[in-house]
Amino acid sequence: MKPTITLPPYPEELTDWWWKQTVQQWPEHGQEKILNLLREEIVRQSDRFNKTRDFDPSSYGARDLSILAYGNFYSPRTFAACGFSLAEAFNYRGWRAPGKGPVRILDLGCGSGASSLATLFYLRRWGIKNPIQLDAWDYSGKSVAFLRNIHRENPHLWRNTQVNTERKDLRHQNENLLKGGYDLILSSYAINEWLEGTDHVHRATIIGKIGSLLKENGYLLLMEPAEGKACRALHSASAQAAENNDRLHLTAPYFNGVPCPLLMKESKYFSHEVRPCTPHNLVEQINHHLNLEIREVKFGMSVIACNQPGRLPDNSGVLRIISPVRKRKGTISFWGIGVDGKEVHIEWQRRNLSKEDQKALLSLQRGDIVERFSTTESTDSRIRLEKAEDIQPLFLPRWESAA
Ligand SMILES: C[S@@+](CC[C@H](N)C(=O)[O-])C[C@H]1O[C@@H](n2cnc3c(N)ncnc32)[C@H](O)[C@@H]1O
Repeated sequence: MKPTITLPPYPEELTDWWWKQTVQQWPEHGQEKILNLLREEIVRQSDRFNKTRDFDPSSYGARDLSILAYGNFYSPRTFAACGFSLAEAFNYRGWRAPGKGPVRILDLGCGSGASSLATLFYLRRWGIKNPIQLDAWDYSGKSVAFLRNIHRENPHLWRNTQVNTERKDLRHQNENLLKGGYDLILSSYAINEWLEGTDHVHRATIIGKIGSLLKENGYLLLMEPAEGKACRALHSASAQAAENNDRLHLTAPYFNGVPCPLLMKESKYFSHEVRPCTPHNLVEQINHHLNLEIREVKFGMSVIACNQPGRLPDNSGVLRIISPVRKRKGTISFWGIGVDGKEVHIEWQRRNLSKEDQKALLSLQRGDIVERFSTTESTDSRIRLEKAEDIQPLFLPRWESAA
């Protein structure tokens, strides 16, 4: 199936940049010793995220080793998560750059800038010509210094873009004093840290206040790690923020402002995206002994826009794929969520499909948005289709080399 948008892969220059900084830090160490230092730090970071959950400015933004471990190992994946979310806003949900003047972007909890820089990089690659001004905030002064350096030293990746970093603790901001006017605001893998320990009501209030910093046509992109608690909190607070603020509309991952249906049903599943990701050889080497998931990027995503998205009729066949696409003995199938927020199971009999059609269907990914045309047999939630062409892609982002 033809992609609706392509993403150039994580730039080789960034992998090289991070590794160069790392080697310069310990000129006396050989490669294996440096890799071991990074591995130990990644285990510490993973424990902090999954077990201790203690976040303060010294957590992992105060030491060079932490920032370098994150930059070498995690950055390609948050870069990818941000790329896919931005692709959805840009390619399917109607975000547009202003007709004239700069695109103004704010990144909250930017760290060393994986998501900030992904945004600059992809907007340029997708043909946005406006000057771009990025404001990037984090409470780690060291991290934002790295962001500035990467940006300055790789100008060809994001021409005509300006970065203004600030060291700020997001927990102690008076949002009423902040200047708005942003076309895009993002917060990637950061909310679960800066709002750790706060409840749903507080999170919705904060998201509402952040939303007030958007321009008339602005979009807020929130990404979180694919972990049940973080994703449920994200989807519930985003829905509440949109409900509390007439100006804000819940735009993705579902349709017509429908909140995450899995949340409503208190399902054991939770909404998140899964996209393939080909790790660089260096990431493979770091991962040796660690065995962490490096071939997929999994993330929760919520988009809030000031524009009211066009309403789709409830009976339209538009749906988001929310499960892996499964090949069983006689069938190919997946689960999706339709415009009305209901789950549907879509299935084909393999005997009716050519090898090529089977391949095309099996290449569909969780997070793709498709439209279903004809229905031969169906109950409310189980639909059997005849031909591969009975679904058509509406949002099918793919890596450029794989296109
Ligand atoms: C997992 S990192 C994500 C970094 C980056 N956004 C990305 O996509 O790779 C989380 C970031 O949130 C920042 N952070 C956590 N709590 C914060 C707070 N209270 N104020 C400002 N930044 C905070 C951390 O310093 C860290 O850089």
